[in-house]
Amino acid sequence: MTPPVDLHAPRRAQYLARLHEASVASRSPHAALLFGGHPPKRNGDSEYRYRPCSDVHYLTGWEDPEVVALFRPGAEHPYILFVQPKDPAREVWTGVRPGVAGALARGADLAFPVGELDSRLGELLQGYGVLHVRLGEDAARDARVFRASASSARAAARNGLEVPHTWVDPRRMIGEMRLIKSDEEIARLRTAAMITCEAHRNAMRTGAPGAWEYEVESAVDHTFRRHGGNGPGYTTIVGGGANACILHYVTNREVLRDGDLCLVDAGCEFQYYTADVTRTWPVNGRFTPAQRAVYEIVLAAQEAAIDRARVGVPYREMHDAAVRVLTQGLVDLGILEGRVDELIAGEAYKAYYMHGTGHWLGMDVHDAGAYWLGFESRALAPGMVLTVEPGLYLPEDDDRVPEAYRGIGIRIEDDVLVTPSGPEVLTADCPKSVADLEAICDRSALSRP
Ligand code: GLY
Ligand code: MN
Ligand code: MN
Repeated sequence: MTPPVDLHAPRRAQYLARLHEASVASRSPHAALLFGGHPPKRNGDSEYRYRPCSDVHYLTGWEDPEVVALFRPGAEHPYILFVQPKDPAREVWTGVRPGVAGALARGADLAFPVGELDSRLGELLQGYGVLHVRLGEDAARDARVFRASASSARAAARNGLEVPHTWVDPRRMIGEMRLIKSDEEIARLRTAAMITCEAHRNAMRTGAPGAWEYEVESAVDHTFRRHGGNGPGYTTIVGGGANACILHYVTNREVLRDGDLCLVDAGCEFQYYTADVTRTWPVNGRFTPAQRAVYEIVLAAQEAAIDRARVGVPYREMHDAAVRVLTQGLVDLGILEGRVDELIAGEAYKAYYMHGTGHWLGMDVHDAGAYWLGFESRALAPGMVLTVEPGLYLPEDDDRVPEAYRGIGIRIEDDVLVTPSGPEVLTADCPKSVADLEAICDRSALSRP
């Protein structure tokens, strides 16, 4: 489904205004050149399904491969698209293309077949001294950008116009726009969150002793698609037992064992916006006392961190709050020894909690936007959406860990909207307390005749 054009037009207007402001500040006109990309190769001649670069989709709404967008504030044609042209022979294989006419109908001031990019770009860049473009990712693309800049320079030697002399990564400026979510974006994130909660409930029902990690993965991914999601926003993680201690475990091919926990980290992408949720639950429906003790610590750390997701609070306070509760918990469990303040200062907890407590969330699971402004942790503002995801990972082979706790890996992750009245947990419908998890994972019906 093509999203409505007017979702993207105001973003383009704002982007052009920001490029203009930067031009005034640096006394050199700024332009931006953004590449949508190709479908990534899987193997042989098979490709993964194409999903546009989030920055390009955010500004253009274009859904087909190979699009290139050029933004030139102040020009007669400020927004130009280069797109795959109509091609009936190719369209039989890969579907109808909007083509140049489609680009104009969707708001471009000018549009050309993408094959004309190299011959036109040099002239189009004349007059712009600063070019926002991602370099260093694709040598052939870099060469095209530099060739166009050189051709622009040749002409400029005659007509005296500015030509690109400075290259700037576009992500910082667009990231600032993407960081604060509009009402439409929040509505999509709410739907992504709702589907994701349903998928986790299905995972909990599926993951009984003897089920395979991939069966749980299929229950999750099936739920995403069945409700109109695009699929997982990142590869679904299902880790039984000590596999939960591997942070991005995606092989998902072992059996779930009676007495183990299962960690599922999965989020549905819905209309380009993804959720990101982790739950950890007992495969047989009952936490052991040791599992429960660790679980309650992680849960308390998460609650302390969520409570800091408030307007005006520096981003890093969430992490600091989680680390304090986790470190105290590691002392209480007999895993760390010493004073909590000193253990935090010496980062002793990092052996068992080695990742951050969250990240921005939106079109990308690790979404765009700066966490620091200069040397200051950024203050939270209404419309920011972030994850809160503390965990503890107690390796099987660590003899500082009392035996009862070895091989336990627990992460609890929710998606939180910062609002003027406090944190709103978008994924609150997903069971999380010990009692709720034991209720939904209850396997007693399975053993009845
Ligand atoms: N699912 C990746 C993450 O939690 O950051
Ligand atoms: Mn996450
Ligand atoms: Mn996650």
